[in-house]
Amino acid sequence: MIVEILKPEFVARISGVDAGAGPTDGEIAEIHAALDRYAVVVLRGQHLDDDRQLAFARRFGTVEATTSARRKRLGVPGLVDLANINDDGEIFERSDEPHLFSLANQLWHTDSSFKSTPARYSMLSCREATATGGETEFADLRAAYDALAPEVKATLDGLVTEHAFIHSRRVLGFEGNVPAVEAMQPVWRPIVHVHAGSERTSLYLASHASRILGWPVPEARLLLFELTEHAAQPQFVYRHTWQAGDFVLWDNRCTMHRGLRYPMDQRRDVRRVSTTDVDSRLMVNDAELAATR
Ligand code: OGA
Ligand code: MN
Repeated sequence: MIVEILKPEFVARISGVDAGAGPTDGEIAEIHAALDRYAVVVLRGQHLDDDRQLAFARRFGTVEATTSARRKRLGVPGLVDLANINDDGEIFERSDEPHLFSLANQLWHTDSSFKSTPARYSMLSCREATATGGETEFADLRAAYDALAPEVKATLDGLVTEHAFIHSRRVLGFEGNVPAVEAMQPVWRPIVHVHAGSERTSLYLASHASRILGWPVPEARLLLFELTEHAAQPQFVYRHTWQAGDFVLWDNRCTMHRGLRYPMDQRRDVRRVSTTDVDSRLMVNDAELAATR
């Protein structure tokens, strides 16, 4: 296995491993260590199918249950369909509801921050890439934290944010039907935590974050916008240009990501599996909530 650094302390490219062929425990341990240190790991030339992608993800923990009530194309529990392709295999129309709903993936976010147990790793497999656009950008929330002014760090100390799935859809003005499975109870998360993979301090931000405990909502939203804008500066961002066969792994605890716009007359088939953050440091208990209130 060869580890090349694409962005220092943030993105590593690993070659010489076949993710679909059932890597050895040693290979998995090396990929795991790279994920914990760098946060984004790029594998290329991986011709995965859904079962192999799932089997690979299971080597890193428990696979998250999927909640999509909108797409039936894949039919494999655990796989999240992020393609622009409908259940009949055709490219979505511009006004199709599952497509409009998925557009929120183009807002800076981290996966499943709104679930009672958030996601740890996400693993996105590209089966068909667009010729133009459709890149995915990743922002390093540890480097972004490090670069904050001391007074901003002091302001953030102890703050907790509310994360609600539906908030990211409301931001885009989505007005369609929201099935019960998506109407999840909001959860509270620290805005700063020590990332368990690297023991470095990190921001924790997402398009799902809507409020800060004890703050007026407009002030909270402004701070969340400001921090997101800060973290999205080029020095903290890696942009991945997809080719079919790419398999990109990332740590949701210390990154944000977003898809970029692409022409809708081109097929884009990307499929994700995420693992759950067992023993998460992103939990806020009732006593902490009561103390902040
Ligand atoms: C995801 C995601 C963005 C993209 O897989 O979780 O947000 O570029 N993807 O498809
Ligand atoms: Mn995502």
